[in-house]
Amino acid sequence: MSTTSSYLSGFGGQFESEAVPGALPHGRNSPQRPAFGLYTEQLSGSAFTAPRHENRRSWLYRLRPTADHRPFEGYAGAPLFAPGTVDGPLAPNRLRWDPPADLPADCDFVDGIVTMLANRDPADLEGVAVHLYRASRSMDRRVFVDADGELLILPQSGALHIVTELGHIDVAPGSVAIIPRGIRFKVEIDGEASGYIAENHGLPFRLPELGPIGANGLANPRDFETPVAAFEDKDEQTQVIQKYLGNLWSTTLDHSPLDVVAWHGSYAPCRYDLARFNTIGSVSFDHPDPSIFTVLTSPSDVPGRANADFVIFPPRWMVAEDTFRPPWFHRNVMSEAMGLIHGAYDAKAEGFAPGGLSLHNLMSGHGPDLDSWKAASTADLKPHKIDGTLAFMVESCWPYRPTRYALDHAQSDYDLAWAGFPKAKLP
Ligand SMILES: [Fe+2]
Repeated sequence: MSTTSSYLSGFGGQFESEAVPGALPHGRNSPQRPAFGLYTEQLSGSAFTAPRHENRRSWLYRLRPTADHRPFEGYAGAPLFAPGTVDGPLAPNRLRWDPPADLPADCDFVDGIVTMLANRDPADLEGVAVHLYRASRSMDRRVFVDADGELLILPQSGALHIVTELGHIDVAPGSVAIIPRGIRFKVEIDGEASGYIAENHGLPFRLPELGPIGANGLANPRDFETPVAAFEDKDEQTQVIQKYLGNLWSTTLDHSPLDVVAWHGSYAPCRYDLARFNTIGSVSFDHPDPSIFTVLTSPSDVPGRANADFVIFPPRWMVAEDTFRPPWFHRNVMSEAMGLIHGAYDAKAEGFAPGGLSLHNLMSGHGPDLDSWKAASTADLKPHKIDGTLAFMVESCWPYRPTRYALDHAQSDYDLAWAGFPKAKLP
C-alpha cells in the first residue's frame, strides 16, 4: 500500500495542484495546446449556473480523455450493492441490526458493498442510501465511479488508501472520506477493512450554517483535507465499474483512468478527522436537539429540511443540571439511520454494537431503552464525560426503505428495548 501525506486544507475552497511542474495552465482554463499534450476536461458537480457559493467544478488535465471508452455493460459482481429496496407496503417498525456476520468475503471494496437502506430514486437527484462494506483485498486494475451521488465513507475497522483521480486519501476509523459524484477511485487496503457508506443523491454535502453559534464551532473548514495531484501512467487493462441510475455497469479501458496530472477548482475529494469536531452542548439545562452535532448537511428544496444530515455523537462532557441527559423519547418527521464506529451509545444499554445499524423512520416512537432510562433518571448529575465512543446518524427527510438483505438480517426483538416501562403514578 502506497502512502502520501500531502493535502490541501479547506472545504469547498478553490484549490490547484500539479503532479508534474508546468502541467497546470495559468491565466486560462482551456488553452489551445495544454502542456505536454494533456487533455483538458471540466468536471462539474453543480449546474453551470449555480450561484457562486453553490458552484462546484474542477478543471482536469489528464493523459487521456474520459470520453475514450467502449459501451458499458451490466455488472453482476456485486449482487448486494444497490439491488433495490423491497416492494410493497412498509410497516412502520423500528429496525436494528447486529454487525452482519455474512458480509461478502474475499472481495475488494466494490464487490464487498451491501446496501441496507435507501430512499428516493437516484434519477430524482434527491435521497440517500446507506451501505455497509467489507473489503479483504485491494482493488486491482479496476476503479469505481458513482454517477448517482457523492460517497461519504466511514471506516469502522481497518484503514483505507483511496486512490482518486485527483489524488490519494488515507482514512482510518474515526475519520471520513468524501468522494464527490463522478470522481473515479480505487481502494487499497492492508488486511481486512469494513465500515459504512452514505451515498448522497442530492445536493452535495456542505457545512451547516452556524447561526447564533457564531463564526466558529462544529466542523471547521480548515480541517477538511483535499489531496494534492497524483496520477498513474499505466497502459494496462483497467475495468471501470459505474453506478448509474441505481444499477452497476462495467467497461474496460486499455489504461488507468486515474491519470489526472494536474487540476484546479472546487470539486474535489477530501477527508475529515471527526476528532476535530468542536462539539457544542448544553451548559445549563435540557437536552439539545441532535442538529447541534451536524457535521455536514445536504439541503432539500424546503428551507431547514435536510435531504441528508451527517451527524456524530463524539466524546463530550455532559454538565446540564436537572436534565435527563440522553435523548428523551421522541418522534419526528425526519428518518434516522444510525451506526456506531466504536464504544457504546448513551441511549442504548445493549444491542447496538459497533458495525451495527438502526433505523427509526418518520414518526416512529423511540428513545432510551429501559436500562438507559432507569440509569439516566436516577444518575447523580455531576459533570460526566462520555468517552471512548463515536456514533453517527444519517438523517433524511425521506423515509428509508430496507433492502431484502437488510430485512432478512434485522433483529427480531428490537421492540423489546422499550418493553417494561412502569406506568406513571398520578397523585
Ligand atoms: Fe432519534
